[in-house]
Amino acid sequence: MSSPRRIRSLFTLPNIPMTKGPSQTSFFQTTCRTYASSSQDATQNLPPAARTPPKKKIVVAMTGATGAILGIKLLKALRRLSVETHLVMSKWAEATIKYETDFQPLDIRSLADHCYGVREQSAPISSGSFRADGMIVVPCSMKTLASIRMGYSDDLISRAADVMLKERRKLVLAVRETPLSDIHLENMLSLTRSGAVIFPPVPAWYTRPRDIGEMEDQSVGRMLDMFQLDTGDFERWEGFKWKK
Ligand SMILES: Cc1cc2nc3c(=O)[nH]c(=O)nc-3n(C[C@H](O)[C@H](O)[C@H](O)COP(=O)(O)O)c2cc1C
Repeated sequence: MSSPRRIRSLFTLPNIPMTKGPSQTSFFQTTCRTYASSSQDATQNLPPAARTPPKKKIVVAMTGATGAILGIKLLKALRRLSVETHLVMSKWAEATIKYETDFQPLDIRSLADHCYGVREQSAPISSGSFRADGMIVVPCSMKTLASIRMGYSDDLISRAADVMLKERRKLVLAVRETPLSDIHLENMLSLTRSGAVIFPPVPAWYTRPRDIGEMEDQSVGRMLDMFQLDTGDFERWEGFKWKK
């Protein structure tokens, strides 16, 4: 197996003098040809696949709070938006999925690009070197909230969330409990101060939702707004529109 140093050396450019000479020109023409153009748009020489911006990568965790359907709808929306998803479900998430919906955990796994076991601490999302754009825990139980707040990292969900915080990446927690104790509220306050977004899936009534499905779509849409993703399937506030 190659050592990390050997791998690094494979990607390290040789020491090239800064002034441009004939030998350097040929080096760039062969090794760095995609950057050799003096044109404003250095991407115009790239093949189409390389010109496409890399897909967004989002870690999705589902825990045992009620509201499993929110995690399911979010995964479906991310699939529609061509976002690469990395999914972890806790044991109690699997129980609530079975109890609250007509889906099985296996169906939910098939919605994600990559799935990991909740005890699989060696998964890529356990490391800051894995480049993800952010993470959302939906729904987020008070137990997982407490674990993330303390940096306890005893399962892959709290570890991946811990990584998001230490790497200063986006972490959205769709916390679900009511009423809230001072312990819950303190945990939320501490995490929001650490950079997480506390996002309880609280419905809005100003859209006059026709059913609970529309309320869920609005919540999921607003959660994905946090990642600059637009599901396009809920009504946004545009000022009063009085009905006659
Ligand atoms: C049907 C059901 C609904 C639950 N709803 C909530 C909830 O809304 N919020 C919460 O914090 N815990 C809720 N719980 C309790 C959690 O599942 C429990 O605390 C569990 O240990 C959470 O573990 P996890 O975060 O690893 O999934 C619920 C449990 C069940 C069985």
